[in-house]
Amino acid sequence: MKNNLKKKAIVTGCAGFIGSHMVEHLLKLNYHVIGIDNLSTGKLKFLEKPLKDRNFKFHKIDILKTKNLEKYFKSINLVIHLSANADVRNGFDNPKKDLEQNTLVTFKILNVMRKLDIKKIVFSSTGSIYGEPDIFPTKENQHFPIQTSLYGCSKLACEGLIQAFANGYNIKAYIFRFVSIFGKRYTHGHLYDFYKKIKKNPKKLHILGNGLQKKSYLNVNDCVEAIFIALKKSKKKVNIFNLGLEDFITVNQSVNIVCNFLNVKPLRIYSGGKRGWIGDSPKIYLDTKKIRNLGWKPKKNIRQSIHETLTFFKKNEWIFKK
Ligand SMILES: NC(=O)c1ccc[n+]([C@@H]2O[C@H](COP(=O)([O-])OP(=O)(O)OC[C@H]3O[C@@H](n4cnc5c(N)ncnc54)[C@H](O)[C@@H]3O)[C@@H](O)[C@H]2O)c1
Repeated sequence: MKNNLKKKAIVTGCAGFIGSHMVEHLLKLNYHVIGIDNLSTGKLKFLEKPLKDRNFKFHKIDILKTKNLEKYFKSINLVIHLSANADVRNGFDNPKKDLEQNTLVTFKILNVMRKLDIKKIVFSSTGSIYGEPDIFPTKENQHFPIQTSLYGCSKLACEGLIQAFANGYNIKAYIFRFVSIFGKRYTHGHLYDFYKKIKKNPKKLHILGNGLQKKSYLNVNDCVEAIFIALKKSKKKVNIFNLGLEDFITVNQSVNIVCNFLNVKPLRIYSGGKRGWIGDSPKIYLDTKKIRNLGWKPKKNIRQSIHETLTFFKKNEWIFKK
């Protein structure tokens, strides 16, 4: 036990949806964990349990603005970089945000790793980097026909920087391209929007696009578990994995589940078009053979994850008050 505590990880974006689950998982694995977050979208309440653990230390800092970032990374052997502007939809309203919060922040983290000789990074990329793929299920080594969102392209730039740093400074990199992640503490995305809108007005629901977009989801606990299987079993310098379920449902089907859960039948008003917004992918469906071949098996299907998320909303409606 004493020896295991020598493992020291830092989690950026630790108070976020995925970050808070990651911190809990690391503590279970007996890591000593440093968490950094500016609480822009993250919530201290999500860290309620870890904050009581003496192996967890939280620092409220903004990575982009902090000058002496190195001081938080002392004796770290694993960097789990999850902080980002995770809001895909509003990228074009503020085109600098993805560049700064995703690409520049990632560069800053890599530079600290280089200076302190830290050798391992986990990075949360996204299926959005495939833009609008033309092959399904989409494999990790597929060509990228076109970039459609500033979020996706900023993450693709991060992937490039991480690969170059891995090669130049002998860093081991684990890049995960997630589909949409669901589960407890989910605070953004269309399920969140639908629930919030229906609660406000159960009679009418505005839906972006034609409702036929096909979306794939993965439970947050399955996501975190996959990351640790890859860390244990994949030993290349650069390790890239899609993470998702090989399944999808349409936006209309998601709406049906939310409406049944809340026992409402709102009039559905569609904005129309194949895409919900500029940069939305009409279909996301990733090939996950590579991670499954390492022995990973997701425990929850899409419907179970949606139900878990809706139950979380019901018990925590405070998350809609912002
Ligand atoms: N949730 C998903 O469906 C999904 C899908 C694909 C990829 N991802 C990626 O996974 C990661 C985690 O996503 P999430 O859903 O937990 O989002 P989130 O918004 O809940 O978490 C991001 C965290 O980063 C923090 N943060 C942002 N900018 C920061 C800065 N400059 N300094 C310090 N902290 C900062 C936020 O306060 C927040 O706690 C992100 O990189 C996201 O792009 C998420």
